[in-house]
Amino acid sequence: MPIKNICCLGAGYVGGPTCSVIALKCPEIKVTVVDLSKDRIAQWNSDKLPIYEPGLDDVVKSCRGKNLFFSSDITSAILEADLIFISVNTPTKAFGNGKGRAADLKYVEGAARIIADVSKSDKIVVEKSTVPVRAAESISNILIANQRPGVAYQILSNPEFLAEGSAINDLLYADRVLIGGEDTPAGRAAIEELSSVYQHWIPKTNIVTMNTWSSELSKLAANAMLAQRISSINSLSAVCEATGADVSEVARAVGLDSRIGSKFLQASVGFGGSCFQKDILNLVYICESLNLPEVAKYWQQVIDINEYQKTRFTTKIIESCFNTLSGKNICIFGFAFKKNTGDTRESPSIFVAKTLLDEGASIRIYDPKVEQNQIYEDLANSVICTPPEEWRPRVSVHSDPYSCSEGCHAIVICTEWDEFINLDYQKIYSEMMKPAYVFDGRKIVDHQALLKIGFHVQTIGMRL
Ligand code: NAD
Ligand code: UGA
Repeated sequence: MPIKNICCLGAGYVGGPTCSVIALKCPEIKVTVVDLSKDRIAQWNSDKLPIYEPGLDDVVKSCRGKNLFFSSDITSAILEADLIFISVNTPTKAFGNGKGRAADLKYVEGAARIIADVSKSDKIVVEKSTVPVRAAESISNILIANQRPGVAYQILSNPEFLAEGSAINDLLYADRVLIGGEDTPAGRAAIEELSSVYQHWIPKTNIVTMNTWSSELSKLAANAMLAQRISSINSLSAVCEATGADVSEVARAVGLDSRIGSKFLQASVGFGGSCFQKDILNLVYICESLNLPEVAKYWQQVIDINEYQKTRFTTKIIESCFNTLSGKNICIFGFAFKKNTGDTRESPSIFVAKTLLDEGASIRIYDPKVEQNQIYEDLANSVICTPPEEWRPRVSVHSDPYSCSEGCHAIVICTEWDEFINLDYQKIYSEMMKPAYVFDGRKIVDHQALLKIGFHVQTIGMRL
């Protein structure tokens, strides 16, 4: 039977955009996105959506109230649905067994329990959250243990590959859609039904089906291999700085080999975002649990190099400023973990800000999309050696880059927002303390032009 009614548990960065695109492309399907957070649902129903994502406003506006609904009535949405996406958060465990590495599946388990409690008809339950291998088995166990008579479930794995900042494009033109399920008549039928939803806009040849465990592991593998490329080029950036090679030239030369490819070789202050670190730590934990210590160690290095890169960058700032930041004003351009998003989860900027504060600096922050409250919350949550009453007066958040940099000793570029490329750096220079420094953690500004103006410039992976 074709899917008529979809429910999505979790109205976050994945659930919101994914279901908006499904609603856009499948006008005959009713899509309801629900969340435990009433505030988040209220924002999805307002003019100011809870997340900034290019193109998202238009998609939501064209479907909301027609076949796309955001609701806090989780029970009704589950009752009505033929197919339910579980798109809840799967953070790293903060305590107990596997603390700091294993994925915390409490929200996935909570979602499975609500589905089991409420459902009165057959459901296809689709694991969209990123989970450890064999998590579908845990979901299945919960559903079966609490099953009402006559209600049947099929569990599918359908990991999401969108990147923030390009989510709508990634969803519309996905390289592939992955669906894992059981190799039984009922399993194959469920795969076919989910596949027919995607076939509204994704060519059938790009919809790949496989067994559930392969699908779950493929998601962790994809993120691990993407992050590994960044750590690889970042590790080489240290060699470039020590030798006089230029990491951009090395990346170009290496990327021209079609077996390697040119994408994801941009050296940087380090990768951030809610998933790379969490998913690799999860993979490391799985490998350790499977008694595969060499494999665990291999992937752990991707995280270790990322930490090394962030520390190398902040050390460079401190050393260049005569090894003391006490009493100095440092301006941070960019707080989001990448451009075109307001998301700050695991942003390298948080690490940079925290380190500079711990060194005694006053910091001034400008980001075009991150709200002031979010910045203060992130700083309060990161480990700062000094008490809040001591560091808080040393932080200010600005609404434009010029007021932010005025009177500062240094500018630190942490996010690659396009607007940072073409600022009037001559004007900025004239209003800064001298010597004036720029530390470009994203390699986006014209370093030669800045040197000509009079700035001292440092960047990643090349000597200037
Ligand atoms: P998020 O934190 O933005 O959203 C998750 C939402 O789920 C929250 O709003 C939370 O309140 C809600 N929730 C938790 N338990 C619930 C329940 N029982 N019922 C209803 N709602 C519930 O997370 P996200 O960034 O959307 O990520 C979700 C999952 O997708 C994670 O596993 C993540 O690893 C994966 N993923 C994320 C991205 C990304 O770009 N953010 C991309 C691919 C995959
Ligand atoms: C990443 C993956 O790209 C998605 O495919 C995946 O679905 C998602 O994680 C997830 O599972 O959450 P995302 O974290 O949103 O997406 O953004 P990316 O574009 O991957 O960037 C991650 C971080 O790496 C950013 O801090 C970015 O600035 C940095 N990066 C990226 C580099 O430093 N260099 C690069 O060459 C590319």
